[in-house]
Amino acid sequence: MTRLFVTASGTGVGKTFVTALLCRQLRAQGHSVVALKPVISGFDPGQPGDSDTFQLLAAQGLAPTPGNIERVSPWRFAAPLSPDMAAAREGRAIAPDALASWCRQRIGGLEDAVLIEGVGGVMVPLNDRFTVLDWLAALGIPALLVTGSYLGTLSHTLTALAAAQGRGVPLAGVVVSESLDQPAPLAETVATLRRFAGAVPVIPLPRLDAADDWRRAPDLTALARRDRAA
Ligand SMILES: Nc1ncnc2c1ncn2[C@@H]1O[C@H](COP(=O)(O)OP(=O)(O)OP(=O)(O)O)[C@@H](O)[C@H]1O
Ligand SMILES: [Mg+2]
Repeated sequence: MTRLFVTASGTGVGKTFVTALLCRQLRAQGHSVVALKPVISGFDPGQPGDSDTFQLLAAQGLAPTPGNIERVSPWRFAAPLSPDMAAAREGRAIAPDALASWCRQRIGGLEDAVLIEGVGGVMVPLNDRFTVLDWLAALGIPALLVTGSYLGTLSHTLTALAAAQGRGVPLAGVVVSESLDQPAPLAETVATLRRFAGAVPVIPLPRLDAADDWRRAPDLTALARRDRAA
C-alpha cells in the first residue's frame, strides 16, 4: 500500500505534475489510486478547468463534478495566496485537526495508493500557527519532495530536506522537475543533490513538451514502492 505526501521546496515547481504523473503510471500498472489536493488556494469555481483539483481528477479518470471537486479538495479558497492569507480573505481559518483527520480517513481507505498533494512549499503557513510541515508530520506518511532545477534550487532543496528530516518525516525521494530556461543542467543539479541527500533517492524529471504524452515520462513508480523510506 502506497501512501505519499507530495510536497515541495516552493510553489509552482511541479507537485501537481508529479502527483498526476505518478497517479497515471500507477493506474496504468493496474493499481487503484486516489489523488487528493485537500487545500487549494486560487481556486476559481467558474474555471475549475485549470486548477490542480481538475488535473488530479483527470489523472484519476474522474469528471470535475461538484461532488468530485469536494471529495478531492474540500478546503478551497479563491485568492491565489498562501493558505493562511487566502483563508483570512474569506474570514476563514484552516483547522489543522480537521484537516489531518480528513486526510487520515482517506489514507485509511482500501485503495492501493493514496497520493496527497500539499500546498506551496514545505513550510508554507496553513494558519497563524501551523505550516504544511506540521500537517505532514501529523500524518506520519512518507514525503515525496518535488523541486526544480532553477538556480537556487540546491539550497532550497537541501533546506526542505533538512526541515522534513528534522521533524522525523520519512522521505520516499526527491524528484527534480526540470525548470524552464535555467543555466544549471538538470543532470548536474541531480548529481550535486545526490552528494548531499544521503540515502534519499534523487530522480531527474526532464521537462516534457505540452505535446508529449505522459507515457514518455520516466517511470516514478519505484518511489511509490519504497516501503522503507529514508
Ligand atoms: N517536468 C515537467 N514537464 C513539463 N511541465 C512541467 C514539468 N514540471 C512542471 N511542469 C509545469 O510547470 C507548471 C507548474 O507545475 P505544477 O502546477 O505541477 O506546480 P505545483 O508545485 O503543483 O504548484 P502549486 O504550488 O501551485 O500547487 C505547470 O504548468 C506544470 O504543468
Ligand atoms: Mg499544484
